[in-house]
Amino acid sequence: MKVKVSKGNVATIETDALIVNLFEGVKKPAGATGSVDRLLDGTISQLIREGEVTGKKNEATLIHTLNKMPASRVMIVGLGQKSKFSPDVLRQVLGTAMRRLRGLKVKRVVSIAHGAGIGEMEPAVSSQAITEGAILGLYKFDKYKTLLKNQASIDELAIVEEDDSKIKLLKAGVNKGQIVAEAANFARDLGNEPANILTPTELADRAKKMAMDVGLEYEVLDRKQMEKLGMGALLAVAAGSNRPPKFIILKHIGDPKNEGNNLALCGKGITFDSGGISIKPAAGMGAMKGDMAGGASVIGAMMAIAQIKPKINVMGLIPATENMSGGSAYHPGDVVQTMLGKTFEIISTDAEGRMVLADALFYAVQHQQKRLVDVATLTGAASIALGNLAAAIMGNDQTLIDQIIDSGETTGERFWQLPMWEEYREEIVSDIADIKNSGTRGAGTIAGGYFIQEFAEGVPWAHLDIAAMARTDQEKGYIVKGHTGFPVRTLIKLAETLAGIK
Ligand code: BES
Ligand code: MN
Ligand code: ZN
Repeated sequence: MKVKVSKGNVATIETDALIVNLFEGVKKPAGATGSVDRLLDGTISQLIREGEVTGKKNEATLIHTLNKMPASRVMIVGLGQKSKFSPDVLRQVLGTAMRRLRGLKVKRVVSIAHGAGIGEMEPAVSSQAITEGAILGLYKFDKYKTLLKNQASIDELAIVEEDDSKIKLLKAGVNKGQIVAEAANFARDLGNEPANILTPTELADRAKKMAMDVGLEYEVLDRKQMEKLGMGALLAVAAGSNRPPKFIILKHIGDPKNEGNNLALCGKGITFDSGGISIKPAAGMGAMKGDMAGGASVIGAMMAIAQIKPKINVMGLIPATENMSGGSAYHPGDVVQTMLGKTFEIISTDAEGRMVLADALFYAVQHQQKRLVDVATLTGAASIALGNLAAAIMGNDQTLIDQIIDSGETTGERFWQLPMWEEYREEIVSDIADIKNSGTRGAGTIAGGYFIQEFAEGVPWAHLDIAAMARTDQEKGYIVKGHTGFPVRTLIKLAETLAGIK
């Protein structure tokens, strides 16, 4: 779908569908909605009076204009209460509206810059949110449905604006929105791919192709190189699979003389998590094809960062392997030595995410990274703690944690901080090694974070447990079934913030 900005007037523009809006509780439509209402002889006002149009968030009412104006249909979307209006509301509303219009076989859509008038939103913020909501909301993963033919798709979305002074800002927002949303959709694709296709090698190949397309430095370490570096934890997890592990490295060099500002993003890249010898129950195991969602989110974020070019060096690290139970698999009870040199005892081979991240974080520390953020579908306990409304965040540096939480507030990706009281360390004390990879039943998410902390070596670090957020069974706003792309947009925003971009 092409997204563009056009100078024009809602009354004269020709299109299959025009999207205008209403805040909740507004009785007399104003602005563009008011103009359309007059052209339609007061139909919108009447629908408001009759209670069919209320302006409630995500409400979408379709009116056929029957030649009263050049647009053949008008969709009135509810923006909810004006006091609660935000870019994320706009993203959600646009996602819902665009999917409805696609279902009606509409090809060309025109939208006003919602909120940029009465809602007092900056034009670029509005057009970015509209673009993101539309591209994210229309996402589909149907490449393996060979029997589907001629699926409906929208060709074009145009944001119209009469005021010349806003056009440039609106265009900038559309451009950014496209980059960000397509990066999130790229991560969604990786998450949705089945594990027989998306092996560690394939993940590395796709990251490489993307890196070449957008201009990132790319490097990949194979098993031999991992052995040389002593990545014992990653290799232990990889031992049970015939599919070779890959350690993927992506670099955006945006500020070469300022290494003190370096940011490393480490994403768990388990392309399938069977649990290994501590095997998982069969029910729902297929979802573990998406256990590389953290890695995918790092790859997606790097894709956007390469295009936005913030003045900061960002390194993306994805330790990629399967967790299988083949003949040479690691066992519960094993002792493994990590790249850092610390030893640990395997309690559960299903606590593999923290192991691959241990080596990745230490690699980052060794390579002059001054801030570490890891992203992982690490613990089922994260959804016990927070449901699927927020990811858990932990770390050793409150500034970094707050920067991530704040970034998430603007992207609509929620994080909730869990404590890292030192008493939790008891969860990872081993009888025979330095630490162990799993604790008791309680505080499972914190124990995972605590384990990973051991490998940050005191460098400012934050851990994002996205186990409950990576995929969903429910379609809502701009989120569709399958992988969500969480938290690609927050990682991009974080890099921008650290580079001084507002
Ligand atoms: N990949 C899983 C966590 C997970 C569970 C992600 C459900 C998404 C949905 C992870 O590797 C795992 O198995 N974690 C264990 C940790 C335990 C063994 C300490 C868990 O959550 O049970
Ligand atoms: Mn596991
Ligand atoms: Zn896992």
